[in-house]
This record gives sequence, C-alpha cells and structure tokens, in this order.
Amino acid sequence: MPKATAIAKNTVFFGDNLASLAALPDESVQLIYIDPPFNTGRTQKRGTATTKRVTEGGRVGFKGHQYETVRQTVLSYDDEFADYWAFLEPRLEQAWRLLNQTGTLYLHLDYRESHYAKVLLDALFGRDCFLNEIIWAYDYGGKSKNRWPAKHDTILVYVKDPAKYFFNSTEVDREPYMAPGLVTPEKVALGKLPTDVWWHTIVSPTGKEKTGYPTQKPLGILRRIIQASSSAGDTVLDFFGGSGTTGAAAAQLGRHFILCDQNPESIAVMKQRFAKAGVEVSFENSPRSPKRKSSKSK
Ligand SMILES: C[S@@+](CC[C@H](N)C(=O)[O-])C[C@H]1O[C@@H](n2cnc3c(N)ncnc32)[C@H](O)[C@@H]1O
Repeated sequence: MPKATAIAKNTVFFGDNLASLAALPDESVQLIYIDPPFNTGRTQKRGTATTKRVTEGGRVGFKGHQYETVRQTVLSYDDEFADYWAFLEPRLEQAWRLLNQTGTLYLHLDYRESHYAKVLLDALFGRDCFLNEIIWAYDYGGKSKNRWPAKHDTILVYVKDPAKYFFNSTEVDREPYMAPGLVTPEKVALGKLPTDVWWHTIVSPTGKEKTGYPTQKPLGILRRIIQASSSAGDTVLDFFGGSGTTGAAAAQLGRHFILCDQNPESIAVMKQRFAKAGVEVSFENSPRSPKRKSSKSK
C-alpha cells in the first residue's frame, strides 16, 4: 500500500489499527502510547499472524536472530501470551517503524503479562533501548483477603535510539512531597518530580473526566508521558484509542495526535469528547488491510 505523504493534524481512524499503521510514513511520530486490551489475542490461534522475516521493509533495525531465539523461548512458556503476542507483535513492529529517532514508546500492560513483554521488547527494540518500567499505583475497588491486593499497572518505556531520545523532565506536572516537613517551603510549593512509581487515582466514576468508556485511563497519567517525551507541535500516536484520553491530553498540551480504534462506541465517545473540548479532529475510516500474498504451507 502506498504510504501517506503527510499526516493530517489530529486524526482518528476507525477500523483495525494494523491497516492504519501500515499507511503512515516511516519515522513520522515522536511518541506512541498504547494500552492494548489483554484478551484480544486469546481468540486467535497461535501462529495466525506470520512472524517470518522479510529481507526488506519494516524489519530493519530489529535484532535479527537473537530476536527470533528469544521470542521462541519466551513464547513457549505461555500459550495465552503466545497468542496475544501474535496479535501485538506486528503492531509493535509498526510502532518501531513509525517512531522518529528521538521517539519513545510507552506500552501500558497488566502486571500478569508485562514480564513477557519486557523480554520480548528488549529483543525487539534492543536492550539498550529500555528506558523505564513505570508502575502506576492506584487504590480503588475491592481488595483480596488471601493475597496482596493487586492495585497497579505497568508501563514499559522503550526509546528508538538511546543516544538521541528526547526526555524533558522540566515540563512534567509535579506532585506533592510525601513528607513536606522534611523539605524547604520553596520545594513544597514547587512539588517533586515524579519517580518511576506513580500514585494516581483512577478516573473517578463521578468526576468530570469520566466519559463512560469502560477502560478509560486518567488524563494525569497521559499528561506526564506527553510532557516528558514530546514537545509542542509534535505528533503523538495511540492506536488503541478507546475514549481518546491520549488525544485529549495531547491537545491540552499543544501536540497533534493520531488515534485509532475499531469499536464504534469508542469513535462515538471520542467525537463527543473532542467536540466538548473544542478540539478539531478529522475522523476517517482505516484503509483496508493490505492484501497479503497467499502463501501455501508445506
Ligand atoms: C484498553 S482500551 C484503551 C483505553 C484508552 N487508553 C483510554 O484511555 O480510553 C483498548 C482499545 O483498543 C481497541 N482495539 C482493540 N483491538 C483493536 C484493533 N485491532 N484495532 C483498533 N483498535 C483496537 C478497543 O476497541 C479498545 O477501545
């Protein structure tokens, strides 16, 4: 499929994200945040998405044989994760292709699969491209009595090029000191720079941020990510767009955004959300999936 020559400012694609990603030009986005649904791949059969290497197009920069070896070893541990990875892997390959040299990927996952994803991303991006494992801790809802209640998500952060990536901590929303009595009043007034453990409430079921979309993430989390890893005028991509939180935060911060979602409810929520916020957005259908050459198995 011919690649688009330019990306329209603030675009939402409706449809499967793989087709949309394939139509975007190489190295055209500064920041990618994704929060994929975990169970999507479980309905697929292992190996339905081909993992065969090609000699040209899209694979340049990945870690060759080492990647294949790591991948096979990791996936042999867990069938469900193998199926999930068959879904996620081609999309992460596109993410790598689309990131520019200063760009960063934030992959938001559940604690049950993040360790598999980390090993695979180490191999896919390169171990030296791993920047952080962010723990988003919250405290809401029921608590198990027979183990430590699980109240965190994991966000893996990988950069395209460890020598060139952009990171600007001075722009990041600061947070209150835990022990304000131990620091100067000036520091208390300024707040402290967040570490890699982020205590942040979930979207309040009664708050004004709530859109009604079930998996909506808080604007505060996305603001931090966008402030640190992009500049005003840059393009931010989220191809599991959901309620459009990434777009809403990007627009607040003067960035452009590209979102995608295949669920019509997501598109309806985003239309309402952006209209209410006065954000101009072009809603488009995803290009049809590129036709694959039929390959016969031996
Ligand atoms: C966990 S939600 C994202 C929530 C989002 N971060 C927010 O704050 O609202 C994942 C989204 O991915 C979408 N999705 C799943 N598979 C997709 C695919 N192949 N192409 C496009 N969207 C997909 C789902 O419809 C869902 O809205």
